[in-house]
Amino acid sequence: MASSLQNYVFVVLLFLVTIQFKPTSSSSHHHHHNHLKSLHFSLYQHETINKTGYIIVNGIKESAGVTETTTPFGTLFVFQDPLTLTSNRSSKLVGIAEGTSITSSLDGLQSISIAKLTVRVKGYKGSVSIVGGTNNIKASDHPIVGGTEDFLFVQGYVTSSPVDLKGITVTYKIEFHIYWPPYAIQSS
Ligand SMILES: *[C@@H]1O[C@H](CO)[C@@H](O)[C@H](O)[C@H]1NC(C)=O
Ligand SMILES: *[C@@H]1O[C@H](CO)[C@@H](O)[C@H](O)[C@H]1NC(C)=O
Repeated sequence: MASSLQNYVFVVLLFLVTIQFKPTSSSSHHHHHNHLKSLHFSLYQHETINKTGYIIVNGIKESAGVTETTTPFGTLFVFQDPLTLTSNRSSKLVGIAEGTSITSSLDGLQSISIAKLTVRVKGYKGSVSIVGGTNNIKASDHPIVGGTEDFLFVQGYVTSSPVDLKGITVTYKIEFHIYWPPYAIQSS
C-alpha cells in the first residue's frame, strides 16, 4: 500500500516535470530545447487494399469481419505505402512506410504495428522505426525505437490519425516528433 502510494507520488511528480519541460511552441519545426535537438513534421500515408497493403494471413472467422476499419482477430497485414506532403495522393512523394500489423483486439479495431518509415524532408534523410498499438478509428501514438542515417539513435513518437477511411485507398496523417539524445549530436 505504502509503496503504491509512493509510486503514485512519483508518477505525479514525473508528470509535472514533463509538463514543465514541454516545448511552448508546437508550430516550430526545428528547435533546441534544454539541449535536446528535435524535429516535428507531418506527412500523409495512403494505403490501397490489394495494391499497397495485403492481408497475408487470415484471422479468426468467428471474430470481426473485414471492413474499411476492422479485420478479424489475428489477421496479419503487410504494407508498403507512399508518404506524401499533403492529404492529396497526388502531392509530392517524400517517403515510404513499410511494415506489418497484426489485429490484436477481438472487435477487429486494434492492432500491433511494426513499421519502418523512410523519409526525405527538411534537409534530413533516413528512416525511423516504430512499434506500438494502432487503433483503426482513433489517433494512436507509436514510440520511435530508433533510426538510420540522419536519424541514427533518435527517440520520440509518431502519431497516426485516420483522415479518410472511405473507399479502397485510406489515408492517415502521420505526425513525427523526433528527438536526438545528446550523444547522437556529439557523434554526428
Ligand atoms: C482483395 O483481395 C482478396 C483476395 O483476392 C479479396 O478477397 C478481396 O475482396 C479484395 N479486396 C478488395 C477491396 O478488392
Ligand atoms: C490533388 O492534386 C491534383 C494534382 O495537383 C489536383 O489536380 C487535384 O484537384 C487535387 N485534388 C484535390 C481533392 O484537391
